[in-house]
Amino acid sequence: MIKINQKSDNPLSHKTECLILPCPEERKPSGTLKIIDEALNGAISGAFKNKRFEGKPNQTLLFNGIGSLKADNLLLVGVGKTKDLTTEIICKASASASKLAEGSNFKFVSIYLNDSCFDKIAKGPRYGELAAAVAEGAGLALYHFDDYKSLNEKDSLPSRLQNLTLVPTTRTRQAALTKAIARAQKIVEAVHSARDLVSHPGNTATPTYLANYAKKMARKSKVTCKVLGKKEMEKLGMGALLGVSRGSHEPPALIVLEYFGAAKNKAPTVIVGKGVTFDTGGISLKPGASMDEMKMDMSGAAATIGTLQAIANLKLKINVIGIVAAAENMPDGLAIKPGDILKSMSGKTIEVLNTDAEGRLVLADALTYAQRYKPKEVIDLATLTGAVLMALGHQAAAVIGTNSSMIKQLQESGIATDERVWELPLWEEFEKATKSDIADLKNIASPGVGAGSSMGAAFLKAFAGEQPWTHIDIAGTAWGYDKPYIPKGPSGYGVRLLIHYLENRKP
Ligand code: BES
Ligand code: ZN
Ligand code: ZN
Repeated sequence: MIKINQKSDNPLSHKTECLILPCPEERKPSGTLKIIDEALNGAISGAFKNKRFEGKPNQTLLFNGIGSLKADNLLLVGVGKTKDLTTEIICKASASASKLAEGSNFKFVSIYLNDSCFDKIAKGPRYGELAAAVAEGAGLALYHFDDYKSLNEKDSLPSRLQNLTLVPTTRTRQAALTKAIARAQKIVEAVHSARDLVSHPGNTATPTYLANYAKKMARKSKVTCKVLGKKEMEKLGMGALLGVSRGSHEPPALIVLEYFGAAKNKAPTVIVGKGVTFDTGGISLKPGASMDEMKMDMSGAAATIGTLQAIANLKLKINVIGIVAAAENMPDGLAIKPGDILKSMSGKTIEVLNTDAEGRLVLADALTYAQRYKPKEVIDLATLTGAVLMALGHQAAAVIGTNSSMIKQLQESGIATDERVWELPLWEEFEKATKSDIADLKNIASPGVGAGSSMGAAFLKAFAGEQPWTHIDIAGTAWGYDKPYIPKGPSGYGVRLLIHYLENRKP
């Protein structure tokens, strides 16, 4: 990850390869921008006049080789109208500017936290939040995954930005900045962990790999990790999770991460993640086109592990348990077939009418296992249905659950982090449609019921327990969610949403 530090300095005499200056939307330069404009003999006001730059969000303008500043280059980045300024806008602007700086082969750049954007309107704690958004935007945007490029190829990779210095207007901001940078770094690291796990192909990121990764993460922080293997699952009667994994040569894993930041007797929040490390569909085989993308079917697991990593590093004073149900869904002589009936850990029997609806099977046993913790609430994260892409595209995850105050707070966190969620219904007609003729439940509804994402949730509800529970379907947001601070591929969606939720959770 890019190194981020701070140094209070005068923008005219600050030495750097490139000085990034966030600018509000206005008709002509004012404040720091005006001072710099004068030093540049009106080059900036000229750009405003020609409407080449107006400070619109994410608009950029690069001045190369300017002699009158100590900075070698100057990069303006718009943040829109000051009255509308949010951490999200700052995060995106910082991401846009950092990417342009990296694309211009700069290695060491600085960003001036000028008064018009940061000091005047950002009084008190808001200053820290905005500064953290600058660091977060840059850190998240500059994500690269080169593990599979051979050494020779690595030599020819494009140049990478190495260092970003935040430059406050006064020294008095130092303490706030130190805190903001440290916080942002922990969040970015956790999102990068989640993205890495999803980026790895199925032949690396197996259930065993996820388990080892979780153990390694736990050793580095105040988290404990235990992993249940096939034998323990058999003892517990986890027939649903074992059923999914039966067609694969990779052994399944139930990964349990425990973090106690509050008194041990306080009921924890349990986060459950779908960790299907590759989803071929099983005997109900998926079509070939884009099947490679199904390596991302463990994005819920990645977000769960990333969230536990972040809350431990941020030392949140809460209790959180992460449970990952990891298995590979393959067609094989031993694989489950349509029509097979599995007995879940809860005792409920499930008629498997489609082996491609495997996420709800692995989650069923993980949700039952979660009951051991007598949780205060349960959240599951899963790339569960293609239907959520039909409903919401890549723009929001679906939230479906049993408790309206929990959903409302998740929606608020979704707005604050721009990891949006949108509620879909959980009507009793959907629950009825999960009843099987010969077993307790069936894993897909009869043709014509529709509402694929709600149906997935209705099935899970049978295993979710009595406490508040919310299912988050991230099949659309985990991948291909294009934003200045989200590069192509895995988004790491869910980590920032859940950190915000857990930090701000009202009882
Ligand atoms: N992993 C898929 C869902 C998915 C689809 C994730 C697209 C990401 C992108 C899931 O296991 C699945 O195959 N679901 C089926 C359910 C159906 C058989 C009821 C689906 O959505 O088609
Ligand atoms: Zn599937
Ligand atoms: Zn799946």
